[in-house]
Amino acid sequence: MNDYKSISAPAFPQTRMRRTRQADWSRRLVRESHLSANDFIWPVFVVEGSGVIDPVPSMPGVERVSVDVLVDRAKEAAELGIPAIAPFPNIEDGLKDPKATLAADPQNVICRAVRAVKQEVPGIGVICDVALDPFSSDGHCGLVIDGVIDNDATNEMLVKQSLVQAEAGADVLGPSDMMDGRVGVIRQALDAAGYQDRQIMSYAAKYASAYYGPFRDAVGSSGTLAGASKSTYQMDSANSDEALREVALDLAEGADYVMVKPGQPYLDVVQRVKSTFQVPTFSYQVSGEYAMLKGAIQNGWLDNDRVVLESLTSFKRAGADAILTYLAIEAAKLLKAG
Ligand code: PBG
Repeated sequence: MNDYKSISAPAFPQTRMRRTRQADWSRRLVRESHLSANDFIWPVFVVEGSGVIDPVPSMPGVERVSVDVLVDRAKEAAELGIPAIAPFPNIEDGLKDPKATLAADPQNVICRAVRAVKQEVPGIGVICDVALDPFSSDGHCGLVIDGVIDNDATNEMLVKQSLVQAEAGADVLGPSDMMDGRVGVIRQALDAAGYQDRQIMSYAAKYASAYYGPFRDAVGSSGTLAGASKSTYQMDSANSDEALREVALDLAEGADYVMVKPGQPYLDVVQRVKSTFQVPTFSYQVSGEYAMLKGAIQNGWLDNDRVVLESLTSFKRAGADAILTYLAIEAAKLLKAG
């Protein structure tokens, strides 16, 4: 693509790449990627109760909060200019079953959270996770029937889950389950129910990744999953052509945004997706990436503010339009402070 060989610019000493780096003003002038609060989607963990603020040990600085606290957090995010939040539930084990029944219950904690946030903070977008793992006693994103993940039975349940979330007021449905065909059936069901304006953010290229460990602690699926692998539905981390096929299919089925996940270890995939499709391309800086940064920061091995902004800027450089990140609030504050 790049045609550097045909460029006949003179080399050193006429050309000195360091000239534009000498001053802050000219570094700002030639800067290619810009990060702002508008780029962030903030994932948050929700639990039952009131006044609950429960730290997640493997994600220093991240908490599980009850709906009333979430409303305050959503206000703060909106004031900082963050466009959207993405709530994930932590469900007590006693309420989970093999059919993930609670996922389609309009009174579950996610639906109540969505209603409260849309009522109190109408200006912020709410993106709901469509997947069964927080509600399933198997800890899988899909339904386990006779020992295997049943793709089509899962899709039926995901449709029910999407409809209760849409009814609660979710602006965006975010299927993160990696079943085949789920975007299409969710789109059809939303349209048939009069929700044709609700958007779909598909976790299109989601890899079977070891970087999700702390998230599973946060939502409480580490225990139910009990070490089982998601590699019959999430992608092999060695593949990138396959990501393009996944994205093409999800777009054909009606996805409005496509996402690559995890983020920083997969920025090559972000770049390929963006340059191939030129559609809104998001990426998720996942829990393990956050834990790695914060672990090193807590040890004094990395500088917090600089590494936070550098890690997020790398997503923009790769071509991501938006970034799901647990760093959203602190990065927005840093950007505001200049
Ligand atoms: C599952 C889901 C996962 C994440 C978001 N949705 C974990 C998984 O696939 O097991 C991971 C997010 C993170 O690690 O921050 N529906």
